[in-house]
Amino acid sequence: MNERETLRINEKGHLEIGGADCVELAKEFSTPLYVFDEAYIRKMMRVYRDTIEREYGGNGLVLYASKAFSCEAMYAIAREEGIGTDVVSGGELYTAIKVGFPPERIYMHGNNKLPSEICDALDHRIGCIVVDSASEADLIDEEAGRRGMVQDVILRINPGVEAHTHAFVQTATPDSKFGFSIHDGSAERMIAYLLTKKHLRLLGYHSHIGSQIFEKGSFVLAVEKNLAFAAQIKQKYAFEPEVLNMGGGFGIWYTDEDRKITAEEYGEYLSALIDAVKRGCTLHGLRLPRILIEPGRSIVGEAGITLYTVGAIKEIKGVRKYIAVDGGMFDNPRYCLYQSKYTAVLANRAAEPPTELVSIAGKCCESGDLIGVNMNLPAAKTGDILAVLSTGAYNYSMASNYNRNLIPPAILVNEGKAEYIVKPQTYEDLVRNDVLPPRLRR
Ligand code: LLP
Repeated sequence: MNERETLRINEKGHLEIGGADCVELAKEFSTPLYVFDEAYIRKMMRVYRDTIEREYGGNGLVLYASKAFSCEAMYAIAREEGIGTDVVSGGELYTAIKVGFPPERIYMHGNNKLPSEICDALDHRIGCIVVDSASEADLIDEEAGRRGMVQDVILRINPGVEAHTHAFVQTATPDSKFGFSIHDGSAERMIAYLLTKKHLRLLGYHSHIGSQIFEKGSFVLAVEKNLAFAAQIKQKYAFEPEVLNMGGGFGIWYTDEDRKITAEEYGEYLSALIDAVKRGCTLHGLRLPRILIEPGRSIVGEAGITLYTVGAIKEIKGVRKYIAVDGGMFDNPRYCLYQSKYTAVLANRAAEPPTELVSIAGKCCESGDLIGVNMNLPAAKTGDILAVLSTGAYNYSMASNYNRNLIPPAILVNEGKAEYIVKPQTYEDLVRNDVLPPRLRR
């Protein structure tokens, strides 16, 4: 196991997260269970915030990309840390507003925002909408006009940077449903169009090149391309960006194939971007824009683990050994979607060295329902507590009730103490929205 800031093995040989013994957590809260370390989440938010403060005179804002893990407590923590948030749906916006998130620090994304979502954003007076289509621009302009307002917007542009990550999470390749390309003239046409809108105020540009990316060079290249583009637009339209939103995407540690980046090193990633902004602005004679970044995975991914109880064990001689757990693709669909790799640990025997390669299966009626294949573990027994690490991002937020399994609850651990931030679902929750027409009743 790669020792991380949030995890350790205690004197009982049990895995601990944020000072809490995972075996005790499993006993108290049952499994499957998402566990989050609050200190790690806050530390990551602060690293980004403080880097902007220190190296850019505070002229910027960190937006927590809440699609990574959205629940009331996460918005409340981001609010307390003085950062902003990026929301991508009416549901995320609703949750943020519900905990009193300052609307001016909310930015809304989405390639196909619904009219109702745009109206909600305007009614709540959120800080900024990231425009991703002409029809959306028309709608925001019209609805803002109806309300007698001028809405701040930024344009999502596609700088055409190919980043080394899974194809499904690359977003700035020529074939992308997101943004407007700076290469084929569509970004320029959209800028010209936005500048004609009476009820929109164009603040600048946004780009996001993808997720789970480790190469600093890809992020820096995107900044350089964006600023070169901004300079061309300035010459032609006398429009200079006040804001540059550089998106999210910093990679995290899942297995030892990934680099382990400390919180401080994430600050250095951001420093490299800040340097690129300063260099690019000097080169092109642009004034320094207010900078925004949208980290999701790097804030919450390594802060979370999932605890399961080992159930059925099946060895198919010469093929593989399956260790089945009480969760699966309904709480973590990432292996099914992206063949994502994870590290697993037996939380009750965490000091024992791994002795075999196994596949971890879920409990869904589907052969592909796996958490991972060829994972290193000591010989697991029914009843062991299995911890899958780095599950804080895009696990709970992508969970489903497939097979009418219950989405696991989430707890937040702080200095050894744990409390629910998402309570357990019940079977009653599953049928809450079912309707039985009278003719089918008996
Ligand atoms: N900003 C924008 C516009 C984005 O589209 C995303 C992620 C982020 C920020 C945050 O990126 P992060 O820092 O978390 O890498 N479900 C996939 C990940 C999808 C990412 C979508 N956009 C997964 O499980 O890997």
